[in-house]
Amino acid sequence: MNGIEKVIEEARKLVEPSADTVERARKAEREIEKRLREILEGYPEIEFRFLGSYARNTWLPESLEIDVFLLFPESYSLEELERIALEIGKRAVDSYELRYASHPYVHGIVRGVEVDIVPCYRLSKIDKIKSAVDRTPFHHEWVKDRIKGKESDVRLLKRFMKAINVYGAEYRIRGFSGYLCELLIIHYGSFLNTVKEASRWRRNFVIDPSKGRTYTKKELDSILVIDPVDKKRNVAANLSINSLARFVEACRVFLEKPSTEFFISKKQSFDKEILRREVKNRFIYCVVFERPPIVEDNLYTQLERAERRMVKILEENEFSVLRSGHYAENNCYLIFELLSGVISGVKKHYGPRFESYAHSMKFIEKNVEYSRFFEDGRYVTFRKRKFRDAKNLLEYAVTSEYRSMGKDISEFIKKGRVLEGNEILGNEEVLPYLSEFLGVSQ
Ligand code: CTP
Ligand code: MG
Ligand code: MN
Repeated sequence: MNGIEKVIEEARKLVEPSADTVERARKAEREIEKRLREILEGYPEIEFRFLGSYARNTWLPESLEIDVFLLFPESYSLEELERIALEIGKRAVDSYELRYASHPYVHGIVRGVEVDIVPCYRLSKIDKIKSAVDRTPFHHEWVKDRIKGKESDVRLLKRFMKAINVYGAEYRIRGFSGYLCELLIIHYGSFLNTVKEASRWRRNFVIDPSKGRTYTKKELDSILVIDPVDKKRNVAANLSINSLARFVEACRVFLEKPSTEFFISKKQSFDKEILRREVKNRFIYCVVFERPPIVEDNLYTQLERAERRMVKILEENEFSVLRSGHYAENNCYLIFELLSGVISGVKKHYGPRFESYAHSMKFIEKNVEYSRFFEDGRYVTFRKRKFRDAKNLLEYAVTSEYRSMGKDISEFIKKGRVLEGNEILGNEEVLPYLSEFLGVSQ
């Protein structure tokens, strides 16, 4: 065994669930099975199946969660399916909350273990699909035998991705889903081989696991992984180009300097003194507002929208935006770094070229605040600027332009506050994110 193989063998121990955890999971599994058998006696047309990473033994010990699917005949309407699935789900678990994917479902606890009880249709062919979750039974069929013997390689890959924050297809992460990890391991055969191959991926790369083929395709935004059970679907559709880049970089660094550190998720840490110094030396602004009670994927789409809208307003007012970002915890944060937070009290206002008689006369009449001059034969004058301080502009945007910033969050933004530089440091929860944003995280 060479160096990198030794590191990988060492890392396997970090991602393998302990005998205790497995036992705890099995007990919960048997309990769910027993309860669902009983409950479903009253619903003879509905079946249940264990799917997802638990059923395939590719789950990570720190995120044990049993996925159970309720399979409904196609004759049920969507309303019936949702209603009955919630009814069954609630009865099957010890305590629960409702979560939302394609439809609402029960996320609960059984004997101390987290369980998702998700309804879907039992389809004979995948082209009759009504919602994304209906593919799940097909995914399971395709993966379950092909992944045998490679489970711990899937776990290695998931943990490797988790440590650099690219595991998960949800909008907050825009990374690799569990199913995508499994397809990569099947396609490339092992964790090590996946990392070696991925270190040379490009954004126009196509992987077709069902044919065992890869090729490049012009005009792709990010990699395309063809779903073996539905050729029209890209399994990597939610993967952003930046998450892809971060993964490829990590693969290269790991190959150059292998270490088990790559399999340990680190708490982001920061030094408040360094933060203080940085924000003093730069122009950092933050809009803070209360977190609206909506589904995470919705929240993050709307935060992105609000962030983009704010950037546009800043740029329309000639502030030069170096970087912008968003973050949500108990509160929501939109963060902006500007080249400068204070700009000239005047802005340039361009008019017509001198040849145009009528337009020129109109320009002269209208612009009396400052005298005019020519640039390349074109009229120019100055006008007083409305906002020469970014904080004032952001405050105006928050109180007057909030409507265009996402339907569920706009009213929360309206009640938000604009913080500048040092003022931001009073919000403890945003500091790890801020230090990453400023490029000084440790
Ligand atoms: N699924 C889905 N749509 C969602 C969430 C899940 O179709 N919004 C399906 C996926 O096909 C997945 C299964 O439900 O295979 C389980 O989802 P999840 O628990 O998120 O992923 P796992 O593959 O189980 O991976 P993990 O180890 O992270 O739980
Ligand atoms: Mg799961
Ligand atoms: Mn799940």
